[in-house]
Amino acid sequence: MTLSISGSRNGVLANKVALVLGASRGIGAATARALGRAGADVVVAARDAVALEAVASSIREEGARAMAIPTDILDDTQVARVVARTVEAFGGLDVAFNNAGSGHLPAPLADLTVQDFDDAIGINLRGILVAMKFELGAMLARGGGSIVNMSSTAGLQGVRGMSAYSATKHAIIGATKSAALDYAAKNIRLNVVAPGPILTDRLRALPVERRAPIERAVPMGRVGLVEEVASTVVYLASDAAAFVTGAVLPVDGGRAAGA
Ligand SMILES: NC(=O)c1ccc[n+]([C@@H]2O[C@H](COP(=O)([O-])OP(=O)(O)OC[C@H]3O[C@@H](n4cnc5c(N)ncnc54)[C@H](O)[C@@H]3O)[C@@H](O)[C@H]2O)c1
Repeated sequence: MTLSISGSRNGVLANKVALVLGASRGIGAATARALGRAGADVVVAARDAVALEAVASSIREEGARAMAIPTDILDDTQVARVVARTVEAFGGLDVAFNNAGSGHLPAPLADLTVQDFDDAIGINLRGILVAMKFELGAMLARGGGSIVNMSSTAGLQGVRGMSAYSATKHAIIGATKSAALDYAAKNIRLNVVAPGPILTDRLRALPVERRAPIERAVPMGRVGLVEEVASTVVYLASDAAAFVTGAVLPVDGGRAAGA
Protein backbone atom coordinates (compact mmCIF):
# COMPACT_ATOMS: atom_id res chain seq x y z
CA MET A 1 0.00 0.00 0.00
CA THR A 2 1.45 3.37 -1.06
CA LEU A 3 0.00 6.79 -0.56
CA SER A 4 1.32 9.59 -2.75
CA ILE A 5 1.26 13.12 -1.43
CA SER A 6 0.72 14.99 -4.70
CA GLY A 7 -3.03 14.86 -5.31
CA SER A 8 -4.87 16.50 -8.19
CA ARG A 9 -6.68 19.57 -6.84
CA ASN A 10 -8.66 20.47 -9.95
CA GLY A 11 -11.84 19.03 -11.39
CA VAL A 12 -15.44 18.56 -10.35
CA LEU A 13 -14.43 16.29 -7.45
CA ALA A 14 -11.50 18.35 -6.14
CA ASN A 15 -10.99 17.84 -2.39
CA LYS A 16 -13.39 14.87 -2.37
CA VAL A 17 -12.56 11.39 -1.14
CA ALA A 18 -13.95 8.49 -3.17
CA LEU A 19 -14.15 4.77 -2.45
CA VAL A 20 -14.72 2.26 -5.27
CA LEU A 21 -15.73 -1.25 -4.18
CA GLY A 22 -15.04 -3.71 -7.00
CA ALA A 23 -12.24 -1.66 -8.57
CA SER A 24 -9.73 -4.27 -9.72
CA ARG A 25 -10.82 -4.39 -13.38
CA GLY A 26 -13.52 -3.49 -15.90
CA ILE A 27 -16.02 -0.75 -15.11
CA GLY A 28 -14.82 -0.31 -11.52
CA ALA A 29 -11.17 0.26 -12.49
CA ALA A 30 -12.15 2.71 -15.27
CA THR A 31 -14.40 4.60 -12.87
CA ALA A 32 -11.72 4.78 -10.18
CA ARG A 33 -9.39 6.35 -12.77
CA ALA A 34 -12.12 8.79 -13.87
CA LEU A 35 -12.78 9.81 -10.24
CA GLY A 36 -9.03 10.48 -9.83
CA ARG A 37 -8.98 12.55 -13.03
CA ALA A 38 -11.94 14.53 -11.67
CA GLY A 39 -9.76 15.48 -8.69
CA ALA A 40 -10.81 13.00 -6.00
CA ASP A 41 -8.53 11.05 -3.68
CA VAL A 42 -9.41 7.45 -4.50
CA VAL A 43 -9.45 4.24 -2.47
CA VAL A 44 -9.74 1.15 -4.64
CA ALA A 45 -11.05 -2.06 -3.08
CA ALA A 46 -11.62 -5.62 -4.31
CA ARG A 47 -10.10 -9.03 -3.53
CA ASP A 48 -7.14 -9.08 -5.95
CA ALA A 49 -4.33 -7.14 -4.23
CA VAL A 50 -2.00 -7.17 -7.25
CA ALA A 51 -4.58 -5.94 -9.75
CA LEU A 52 -5.77 -3.31 -7.25
CA GLU A 53 -2.28 -1.95 -6.69
CA ALA A 54 -1.87 -1.62 -10.48
CA VAL A 55 -5.09 0.43 -10.65
CA ALA A 56 -4.02 2.62 -7.70
CA SER A 57 -0.63 3.16 -9.25
CA SER A 58 -2.15 4.20 -12.62
CA ILE A 59 -4.29 6.75 -10.75
CA ARG A 60 -1.23 8.14 -8.95
CA GLU A 61 0.63 8.37 -12.27
CA GLU A 62 -2.11 10.74 -13.43
CA GLY A 63 -1.55 12.97 -10.40
CA ALA A 64 -4.28 11.98 -7.93
CA ARG A 65 -3.84 10.35 -4.54
CA ALA A 66 -4.81 6.68 -4.49
CA MET A 67 -4.65 3.76 -2.10
CA ALA A 68 -5.42 0.06 -2.63
CA ILE A 69 -7.16 -1.87 0.15
CA PRO A 70 -7.82 -5.56 -0.56
CA THR A 71 -11.41 -6.25 0.51
CA ASP A 72 -13.89 -9.09 0.16
CA ILE A 73 -17.39 -7.59 0.11
CA LEU A 74 -18.72 -10.88 1.54
CA ASP A 75 -16.81 -10.20 4.78
CA ASP A 76 -18.60 -7.56 6.87
CA THR A 77 -15.49 -6.88 8.97
CA GLN A 78 -13.42 -6.17 5.86
CA VAL A 79 -16.12 -3.85 4.50
CA ALA A 80 -16.25 -1.91 7.79
CA ARG A 81 -12.45 -1.77 7.77
CA VAL A 82 -12.13 -0.38 4.22
CA VAL A 83 -14.46 2.50 5.09
CA ALA A 84 -12.64 3.17 8.38
CA ARG A 85 -9.23 3.11 6.70
CA THR A 86 -10.44 5.45 3.95
CA VAL A 87 -11.53 7.96 6.59
CA GLU A 88 -8.27 7.49 8.49
CA ALA A 89 -6.08 8.00 5.41
CA PHE A 90 -7.92 10.86 3.71
CA GLY A 91 -9.96 12.47 6.49
CA GLY A 92 -13.48 11.41 5.45
CA LEU A 93 -15.64 9.84 2.76
CA ASP A 94 -17.57 11.87 0.17
CA VAL A 95 -18.22 9.47 -2.70
CA ALA A 96 -18.79 5.72 -2.80
CA PHE A 97 -19.27 3.65 -5.95
CA ASN A 98 -20.53 0.17 -5.03
CA ASN A 99 -19.67 -1.70 -8.20
CA ALA A 100 -18.67 -5.18 -6.97
CA GLY A 101 -20.79 -7.72 -8.76
CA SER A 102 -21.10 -11.31 -9.78
CA GLY A 103 -23.11 -13.00 -12.50
CA HIS A 104 -23.94 -16.65 -13.14
CA LEU A 105 -23.90 -18.61 -16.37
CA PRO A 106 -27.20 -18.11 -18.21
CA ALA A 107 -29.70 -20.90 -17.48
CA PRO A 108 -33.44 -21.20 -16.78
CA LEU A 109 -34.14 -20.76 -13.06
CA ALA A 110 -34.69 -24.47 -12.30
CA ASP A 111 -31.24 -25.21 -13.72
CA LEU A 112 -29.43 -22.62 -11.60
CA THR A 113 -27.84 -23.91 -8.41
CA VAL A 114 -28.64 -22.68 -4.91
CA GLN A 115 -24.98 -21.60 -4.85
CA ASP A 116 -25.74 -19.35 -7.87
CA PHE A 117 -28.53 -17.74 -5.81
CA ASP A 118 -26.26 -17.28 -2.78
CA ASP A 119 -23.36 -15.85 -4.80
CA ALA A 120 -25.51 -13.30 -6.60
CA ILE A 121 -27.40 -12.24 -3.46
CA GLY A 122 -24.26 -12.22 -1.30
CA ILE A 123 -22.22 -9.92 -3.51
CA ASN A 124 -24.72 -7.87 -5.55
CA LEU A 125 -27.22 -7.26 -2.77
CA ARG A 126 -26.12 -8.17 0.77
CA GLY A 127 -22.56 -6.95 0.19
CA ILE A 128 -23.74 -3.63 -1.16
CA LEU A 129 -26.27 -3.17 1.67
CA VAL A 130 -23.49 -3.74 4.21
CA ALA A 131 -21.19 -1.37 2.31
CA MET A 132 -23.89 1.32 2.28
CA LYS A 133 -24.42 0.88 6.03
CA PHE A 134 -20.80 1.75 6.81
CA GLU A 135 -20.44 4.36 4.05
CA LEU A 136 -23.54 6.18 5.29
CA GLY A 137 -22.09 6.23 8.81
CA ALA A 138 -18.94 7.92 7.51
CA MET A 139 -20.94 10.35 5.34
CA LEU A 140 -23.19 11.34 8.25
CA ALA A 141 -20.05 12.15 10.22
CA ARG A 142 -18.78 14.18 7.26
CA GLY A 143 -22.09 16.07 6.83
CA GLY A 144 -22.94 14.75 3.37
CA GLY A 145 -21.95 12.57 0.46
CA SER A 146 -22.96 10.74 -2.68
CA ILE A 147 -23.38 6.98 -3.16
CA VAL A 148 -23.73 5.41 -6.59
CA ASN A 149 -24.78 1.75 -6.72
CA MET A 150 -24.29 -0.56 -9.67
CA SER A 151 -27.36 -2.22 -11.17
CA SER A 152 -27.88 -3.21 -14.80
CA THR A 153 -30.56 -3.18 -17.49
CA ALA A 154 -31.21 -6.61 -15.90
CA GLY A 155 -32.44 -4.56 -12.92
CA LEU A 156 -35.03 -2.82 -15.09
CA GLN A 157 -36.38 -5.75 -17.11
CA GLY A 158 -36.20 -9.53 -17.17
CA VAL A 159 -33.34 -11.24 -18.99
CA ARG A 160 -33.73 -14.85 -20.07
CA GLY A 161 -31.45 -17.17 -18.09
CA MET A 162 -30.44 -14.51 -15.58
CA SER A 163 -33.13 -14.76 -12.90
CA ALA A 164 -30.88 -14.73 -9.81
CA TYR A 165 -28.66 -11.94 -11.17
CA SER A 166 -31.68 -9.95 -12.33
CA ALA A 167 -33.37 -10.34 -8.92
CA THR A 168 -30.38 -8.75 -7.17
CA LYS A 169 -30.09 -5.96 -9.73
CA HIS A 170 -33.79 -5.11 -9.26
CA ALA A 171 -33.40 -5.31 -5.47
CA ILE A 172 -30.50 -2.88 -5.31
CA ILE A 173 -32.67 -0.29 -7.04
CA GLY A 174 -35.35 -0.65 -4.33
CA ALA A 175 -32.73 -0.42 -1.60
CA THR A 176 -31.17 2.67 -3.13
CA LYS A 177 -34.47 4.49 -3.65
CA SER A 178 -35.56 3.77 -0.06
CA ALA A 179 -32.24 4.88 1.41
CA ALA A 180 -32.37 8.00 -0.80
CA LEU A 181 -35.59 8.92 1.03
CA ASP A 182 -34.03 8.22 4.44
CA TYR A 183 -31.02 10.47 3.78
CA ALA A 184 -32.39 13.16 1.41
CA ALA A 185 -32.60 15.73 4.20
CA LYS A 186 -29.15 14.80 5.49
CA ASN A 187 -27.25 15.96 2.41
CA ILE A 188 -26.52 12.40 1.26
CA ARG A 189 -27.62 11.44 -2.26
CA LEU A 190 -27.99 7.84 -3.43
CA ASN A 191 -28.40 6.92 -7.09
CA VAL A 192 -28.07 3.93 -9.39
CA VAL A 193 -26.38 3.35 -12.74
CA ALA A 194 -27.91 0.66 -14.91
CA PRO A 195 -25.57 -0.24 -17.79
CA GLY A 196 -26.46 -2.31 -20.81
CA PRO A 197 -23.74 -4.51 -22.36
CA ILE A 198 -20.35 -2.90 -21.76
CA LEU A 199 -17.10 -3.80 -23.51
CA THR A 200 -15.10 -5.50 -20.75
CA ASP A 201 -12.73 -8.46 -21.13
CA ARG A 202 -15.63 -10.92 -20.88
CA LEU A 203 -17.45 -9.41 -23.87
CA ARG A 204 -14.19 -8.89 -25.74
CA ALA A 205 -13.47 -12.62 -25.39
CA LEU A 206 -16.73 -13.64 -27.09
CA PRO A 207 -16.54 -14.84 -30.69
CA VAL A 208 -18.05 -12.44 -33.26
CA GLU A 209 -21.11 -14.68 -33.78
CA ARG A 210 -22.01 -14.37 -30.07
CA ARG A 211 -21.17 -10.67 -29.79
CA ALA A 212 -23.13 -9.57 -32.88
CA PRO A 213 -26.63 -10.32 -31.49
CA ILE A 214 -25.73 -8.50 -28.26
CA GLU A 215 -24.80 -5.43 -30.30
CA ARG A 216 -27.93 -5.71 -32.47
CA ALA A 217 -30.15 -5.71 -29.37
CA VAL A 218 -28.89 -2.21 -28.48
CA PRO A 219 -30.76 0.57 -30.33
CA MET A 220 -27.46 2.40 -30.91
CA GLY A 221 -26.12 -0.80 -32.52
CA ARG A 222 -23.04 -1.12 -30.35
CA VAL A 223 -21.95 -2.04 -26.85
CA GLY A 224 -20.91 0.65 -24.36
CA LEU A 225 -17.43 1.58 -23.21
CA VAL A 226 -16.31 1.40 -19.59
CA GLU A 227 -15.48 5.12 -19.83
CA GLU A 228 -19.13 5.84 -20.70
CA VAL A 229 -20.26 4.29 -17.41
CA ALA A 230 -17.40 6.00 -15.55
CA SER A 231 -18.38 9.48 -16.76
CA THR A 232 -21.97 8.87 -15.63
CA VAL A 233 -20.77 7.87 -12.15
CA VAL A 234 -18.57 11.00 -11.97
CA TYR A 235 -21.61 13.10 -12.91
CA LEU A 236 -23.82 11.47 -10.24
CA ALA A 237 -21.04 11.86 -7.67
CA SER A 238 -20.49 15.54 -8.43
CA ASP A 239 -22.34 18.71 -7.53
CA ALA A 240 -23.62 18.82 -11.15
CA ALA A 241 -26.13 16.26 -9.81
CA ALA A 242 -26.79 18.14 -6.54
CA PHE A 243 -30.62 17.81 -6.89
CA VAL A 244 -30.53 14.21 -8.15
CA THR A 245 -31.28 11.46 -5.62
CA GLY A 246 -33.12 8.15 -5.83
CA ALA A 247 -32.57 8.18 -9.60
CA VAL A 248 -31.80 5.22 -11.84
CA LEU A 249 -29.75 6.17 -14.87
CA PRO A 250 -29.56 3.64 -17.71
CA VAL A 251 -26.25 3.77 -19.64
CA ASP A 252 -27.33 1.41 -22.37
CA GLY A 253 -27.55 2.95 -25.83
CA GLY A 254 -31.35 3.10 -25.46
CA ARG A 255 -31.91 -0.56 -24.68
CA ALA A 256 -34.12 -0.06 -21.61
CA ALA A 257 -36.23 2.54 -23.45
CA GLY A 258 -38.25 -0.22 -25.11
CA ALA A 259 -38.20 -2.73 -27.91
N1 LIG B 1 -19.99 -5.49 -18.12
C1 LIG B 1 -21.26 -5.34 -18.37
O1 LIG B 1 -21.71 -5.48 -19.50
C2 LIG B 1 -22.21 -4.94 -17.25
C3 LIG B 1 -23.51 -4.53 -17.57
C4 LIG B 1 -24.37 -4.16 -16.56
C5 LIG B 1 -23.94 -4.20 -15.24
N2 LIG B 1 -22.69 -4.62 -14.95
C6 LIG B 1 -22.29 -4.64 -13.54
O2 LIG B 1 -21.14 -3.81 -13.40
C7 LIG B 1 -20.32 -4.29 -12.34
C8 LIG B 1 -18.91 -4.48 -12.84
O3 LIG B 1 -18.97 -5.29 -13.98
P1 LIG B 1 -17.69 -5.69 -14.86
O4 LIG B 1 -18.21 -6.19 -16.13
O5 LIG B 1 -16.69 -4.60 -14.82
O6 LIG B 1 -17.32 -6.98 -13.99
P2 LIG B 1 -16.00 -7.63 -13.50
O7 LIG B 1 -16.34 -9.01 -13.12
O8 LIG B 1 -14.90 -7.38 -14.46
O9 LIG B 1 -15.74 -6.74 -12.19
C9 LIG B 1 -16.42 -6.94 -11.01
C10 LIG B 1 -15.64 -6.29 -9.91
O10 LIG B 1 -16.22 -6.70 -8.67
C11 LIG B 1 -15.21 -7.27 -7.88
N3 LIG B 1 -15.74 -8.30 -7.00
C12 LIG B 1 -16.41 -9.45 -7.33
N4 LIG B 1 -16.64 -10.16 -6.22
C13 LIG B 1 -16.14 -9.44 -5.17
C14 LIG B 1 -16.07 -9.66 -3.77
N5 LIG B 1 -16.54 -10.77 -3.19
N6 LIG B 1 -15.49 -8.70 -3.01
C15 LIG B 1 -14.98 -7.59 -3.56
N7 LIG B 1 -15.01 -7.34 -4.88
C16 LIG B 1 -15.57 -8.26 -5.67
C17 LIG B 1 -14.21 -7.86 -8.86
O11 LIG B 1 -12.98 -8.06 -8.22
C18 LIG B 1 -14.18 -6.75 -9.89
O12 LIG B 1 -13.34 -5.70 -9.47
C19 LIG B 1 -20.98 -5.58 -11.84
O13 LIG B 1 -21.78 -5.28 -10.71
C20 LIG B 1 -21.88 -5.99 -13.01
O14 LIG B 1 -22.97 -6.74 -12.57
C21 LIG B 1 -21.80 -4.99 -15.92
